Amino acid sequence: MNSNSEQLSPLAPLQAALAQHLVGHESLIERLTIALLTGGHCLIEGPPGIAKTRAVNTFSRLVALDFARVQATPDLLPADLTGSDLYRQETGQFEFLSGPLFNQVILVDEINRAPPKVQSALLEAMGEQQVTTGNTTRELNKPFMVAATQNPIEHEGTYPLPEAQLDRFMFHVELALPNSEHERDILNYVLDNDQIDSLQPVIDAAGILDAMQRVKSVHLSPAVRDYIVRLTTATRGEGSSGEYAKDIAHPSSPRGSIHLAESARAKAWLLGRDHVQPADVSDLACDVLSGRISLNYRARAEGKTPRDVLTAIVDNTPVV
Ligand SMILES: Nc1ncnc2c1ncn2[C@@H]1O[C@H](COP(=O)(O)OP(=O)(O)OP(=O)(O)O)[C@@H](O)[C@H]1O
Ligand SMILES: [Mg+2]
Repeated sequence: MNSNSEQLSPLAPLQAALAQHLVGHESLIERLTIALLTGGHCLIEGPPGIAKTRAVNTFSRLVALDFARVQATPDLLPADLTGSDLYRQETGQFEFLSGPLFNQVILVDEINRAPPKVQSALLEAMGEQQVTTGNTTRELNKPFMVAATQNPIEHEGTYPLPEAQLDRFMFHVELALPNSEHERDILNYVLDNDQIDSLQPVIDAAGILDAMQRVKSVHLSPAVRDYIVRLTTATRGEGSSGEYAKDIAHPSSPRGSIHLAESARAKAWLLGRDHVQPADVSDLACDVLSGRISLNYRARAEGKTPRDVLTAIVDNTPVV
């Protein structure tokens, strides 16, 4: 423990306010906060009506960052995200009209309804924090975070995200329907206490950038790094838990290890620690890696999900 341990993190008010307005979504709240702190992006998946859009809208109101919402539809064009050059008759010049990607928090709602060309326009922005149109590349603002939502991918009229796109998300968070206790709380909240329209920001860009710097100095020991490597390479069949990779068609990329390490640092910092513990890593592993692996036909026919296989890997990978 360090001297920080007694203090609340500057992100605590954000997490507390989110928890007040999102019933039972503690894990999602933590993942969104971690993504913000690490320059990561978050894909939120789940059935309709469980507050996916609401979560990102609430988040955007509580951080004093520029926010844009893109409703993905099959007729969306890449320029609808990036912006485009417009000819101005008055000046006889082209002028760049920036698109929603030039904001800081971007909600891409129902991302899997966007056609592949639009999804790939997001790749550069998410991976490199820049946008290229024509011959010009423009830097995006910092902090920059994409939070995308999608309904489960079997739905009609959707374009499943390609692996390269999924790999750019730090987290793939899957939300489930609430239990009866949460259902009652949601009802009470929406009917009696819905204050989303009057929410005020609890942290600004300078506060977030400062916190991002601090997160980078959280210690990640060689032993914890090795643990991260064991988890990722198990998806490729290596090590004692590599046997579970028999179900995996496409394993995790190195970006999986990097995102796991970065997110574990932020989690440790949010908990007031100056070093990462293996439990930080194992807690995040499924949400970091599940979007990056796909299962082979046989495993899918048996009804297994990437999360099932990753849970087995996490449960069977030695921590030291
Ligand atoms: N856990 C929850 N906490 C607070 N409100 C909730 C919760 N679950 C559902 N709601 C309420 O349900 C409504 C639907 O939420 P929202 O539109 O965000 O769902 P969604 O998951 O984005 O659905 P869709 O996939 O259809 O777009 C909102 O009024 C929201 O306040
Ligand atoms: Mg929605």
